[in-house]
Amino acid sequence: MSDFVSGFWDIYVMVLVAGSIAFCMYVVLSNRTAKQVGQVELHGHVWDENIAEWNNPLPRWWVGLFWITIFFSITYLVLYPGFGTNKGLYGWSAHKQYDDEVKKADNQYAPIFDKYAKMDLNALAADKEANAMGKRLFLTYCAACHGSDARGAKGFPNLADNDWLYGGEPATVETSILGGRNGVMPPHAHLGADAVKDAANYVRSLSGLAADSIRIQRGKEVFNTAGCTGCHGADAKGNQAIGAPNLTDKTWLYGSSEATIIETLSKGRNNQMPAWKDMLGEAKVHLLAGYVLSLSKDQAVAK
Ligand code: HEC
Ligand code: HEC
Repeated sequence: MSDFVSGFWDIYVMVLVAGSIAFCMYVVLSNRTAKQVGQVELHGHVWDENIAEWNNPLPRWWVGLFWITIFFSITYLVLYPGFGTNKGLYGWSAHKQYDDEVKKADNQYAPIFDKYAKMDLNALAADKEANAMGKRLFLTYCAACHGSDARGAKGFPNLADNDWLYGGEPATVETSILGGRNGVMPPHAHLGADAVKDAANYVRSLSGLAADSIRIQRGKEVFNTAGCTGCHGADAKGNQAIGAPNLTDKTWLYGSSEATIIETLSKGRNNQMPAWKDMLGEAKVHLLAGYVLSLSKDQAVAK
């Protein structure tokens, strides 16, 4: 296997490998000496007037190790990939080993997933064993963004409450996970800093937060004329078809402070939930949807 476009580097590596092995053999062979210890002569090198070097043969065990190494490397290169593009007699590859292991695991667990894949999501959400499996999947694939307790963080929605950007119907939650979601709030800096601040005050007032009463009046005007209603609705209760949040409740995706809302309005937001269908497959997503639904089942709707 080679990622190189031309064959040059393959040959380069082959020459280096064969050359190193041949050189190693040459060094071992050329240092053979027929003489035995005791019968030897001096090399003729002398240091410090009287320190001389004997021409002794190399220890047998040591030479033996060299031959074992040489033999091993040749056997290895015959059996396994390593010598240029040669695939080796075993036909082993890291990809193949990985695929085999995945296939083995899939065969082993398929019956379990099949059983749950056929279950209705509401029943699945009430099934303790299924939720234990769903939780493990969640901790592996989802917790990095949504938190290990699924309560989310700034920009990452809380999945354990009953407030949904895209809807909490079992099928909708499953669709969110299968296909991913992309929430786009366009930037509105063109309205001017003052109008944005007015709108932010109006948005805060919608959920009962302290806001400047003059700005609320002006902000309402901005909200109704600047296109906000097109996505968030005239009543500002949002639109789950496009994931536009309800602005009148107490649940915030980014935060309720005036500064955060101003940031959301002027810079906009572009939020990505990845799609999991290809990566995990429908059976695992089904288990995950069941688990996510189980988290909010007993929660009262946050108002
Ligand atoms: C890379 C971060 C990331 C990962 C990983 C991730 N999510 Fe999300 N998820 C998001 C974001 C961001 C959103 C909100 C998207 C938006 O604002 O439009 C979201 C939205 C959702 C929603 C819709 C919530 C609603 O209120 O409608 C569900 C359900 C969900 N995620 C479940 C999962 C599950 C289950 C996993 C694991 C398989 C997962 N997510 C993994 C970032 C992530
Ligand atoms: C094209 C549709 C669209 C328009 C127009 C739009 N919004 Fe949004 N808005 C969204 C979406 C979608 C989100 C959620 C973004 C995300 O998922 O990250 C959002 C998020 C927000 C948030 C953040 C809420 C939170 O929980 O943190 C606020 C506040 C907001 N919008 C106010 C406004 C105001 C005020 C206007 C008018 C000036 C406006 N939006 C115009 C679609 C829109």
